[in-house]
Amino acid sequence: MVIVRADRVGKKFSIGSETVRAVDNVSLEIGSGELVVLVGASGSGKSTLLNLIGGLERVDGGSLTVLDTDMRKASEAALARMRLTRVGFVFQDFNLVKDLTLAENVSLPLEGAGVPRKKARETARSALARVGLKGLDDRFPVEVSGGQQQRAAIARAVVGERELILADEPTGALDSATGREIMELLSGLQRDGVTIVLSTHNPANMEFGDQVIELRDGRRLSPATAPDGAAC
Ligand SMILES: Nc1ncnc2c1ncn2[C@@H]1O[C@H](COP(=O)(O)OP(=O)(O)OP(=O)(O)O)[C@@H](O)[C@H]1O
Ligand SMILES: [Mg+2]
Repeated sequence: MVIVRADRVGKKFSIGSETVRAVDNVSLEIGSGELVVLVGASGSGKSTLLNLIGGLERVDGGSLTVLDTDMRKASEAALARMRLTRVGFVFQDFNLVKDLTLAENVSLPLEGAGVPRKKARETARSALARVGLKGLDDRFPVEVSGGQQQRAAIARAVVGERELILADEPTGALDSATGREIMELLSGLQRDGVTIVLSTHNPANMEFGDQVIELRDGRRLSPATAPDGAAC
């Protein structure tokens, strides 16, 4: 089953009279349960591509289908719903809500999707256990390490049986040993059937990828294949 299909996707930003093609003519196909690694220099379009896939930004050229949703046509409400129930984001700086405990952070998307609070908290606790944070449910983000914060952010991204995780430099703020543990955690979720797309500047993370997609100036460099497998 194909989870993400991009066909000549483009995204431009205009700053004054200048136009930047942040994502330029990118085609790709991501199957269910794959782990895909996006690499490329700063400014090559990795974050923009992840934001397009997650519906945080709108495609302005080509076509993009994510979990059977046409990302050009979907309403804002449908995209917001998708992010609460089917797609989770993980960021470099964890983005946990600092005034909420880890369990409260992880229950946010469940409560947003209408799960009653008590049930949401229980589910959040098991999600925290799943990422190796048993017993830390009632800590605040400042009371745990960076690696543990990222584990909690990953729990928040998958809780509620979400199928697709988009992780923008998930190891970027961590030392290499902790970064590797986070990659192993993501790899474990992949084995459970979650599809993962992540960006990284660390070449060591490439070995975790079923596909490594390299971007330069918004364009896909390697391997240059179209969704039908033909070279382009
Ligand atoms: N909201 C925006 N407005 C204007 N330009 C933008 C915006 N977002 C991204 N860009 C531009 O689009 C290009 C791609 O940026 P993007 O953030 O996707 O790169 P990146 O590969 O994630 O870089 P990094 O490795 O530094 O995170 C850059 O030239 C950037 O300046
Ligand atoms: Mg980026």
